[in-house]
Amino acid sequence: MSTKFQGSKNYVATQDLMLAVNAAATLQRPLLVKGEPGTGKTMLAEEVAQALSMPLLQWHIKSTTKAQQGLYEYDAVSRLRDSQLGGAENGEKVKDIRNYIVQGVLWQAFTSDEPVALLIDEIDKADIEFPNDLLREIDRMEFYCYETRELIRAKHRPLVFITSNNEKELPDAFLRRCFFHYIKFPEADTMRQIVGVHFPTLKSELLTAAMKTFYDVRNLPGLKKKPSTSELLDWLKLLVAEDIPLSALQSQDNKVAVPPLVGALLKNEQDVSLFEKLVFMNQRNR
Ligand SMILES: Nc1ncnc2c1ncn2[C@@H]1O[C@H](COP(=O)(O)OP(=O)(O)OP(=O)(O)O)[C@@H](O)[C@H]1O
Ligand SMILES: [Mg+2]
Repeated sequence: MSTKFQGSKNYVATQDLMLAVNAAATLQRPLLVKGEPGTGKTMLAEEVAQALSMPLLQWHIKSTTKAQQGLYEYDAVSRLRDSQLGGAENGEKVKDIRNYIVQGVLWQAFTSDEPVALLIDEIDKADIEFPNDLLREIDRMEFYCYETRELIRAKHRPLVFITSNNEKELPDAFLRRCFFHYIKFPEADTMRQIVGVHFPTLKSELLTAAMKTFYDVRNLPGLKKKPSTSELLDWLKLLVAEDIPLSALQSQDNKVAVPPLVGALLKNEQDVSLFEKLVFMNQRNR
């Protein structure tokens, strides 16, 4: 299967990202996507699914998520309750255990009549056993339901996207089964395109000034949390909404301080004061 993903009108995909998507599809392996928060990992799956007109099944992983939940869960509590309620209808229902099997996303993806895309989002949130517990399912695209004694096998191999923010290392055995892509932080050119997708009518001078400030902030040594794409977009949205003049972003007089609405970019007080120091030094050097 070759997907020929080309990016979309809502999503700017670099050449190497497109290559990675298509490579993973050719190999029929999950695409493991890493990158800083806000660099479009989750959105990638949504956009590829849309571009290829595939339904997207999403599984958002939390620290408490277990692999089994993606396969199925047996709802024994409901069954017990139904059996205690009595009645003919309930009696019939209780007899068939299949009425109490709750299908997980993998089950749904495997049994879907049409090929689907499957997003396993933020796999690094779960405990370290989680990826290992899914090896067989990802490899063989099948699993066994003991309660109903049936083998659930994929009718079509889903196009799998797995994202990680690198909070935990993933096991080697798991990595072997994936095609890996790191979304590098966008260079200015790519970033301009991304902004263009979201704000097609933004004045070019305002964008240039805002991007300069943005990359200056990002390049500050010692920053705790670097602002990323989504933060720049938030900030631009505010600059436009508040009608901030270009002059507020350009430091042409000595009164210039921290740029307006910097809370969209810097998310803790140490970073803000680091930035204030930089502005102060720049003023003195002028
Ligand atoms: N290449 C891109 N093209 C268009 N918009 C983008 C792109 N990358 C990021 N964005 C914007 O940034 C926002 C954040 O993207 P997304 O939620 O996919 O990031 P993420 O990498 O999944 O972040 P996190 O790790 O925090 O979950 C998107 O809603 C989108 O508006
Ligand atoms: Mg995400």
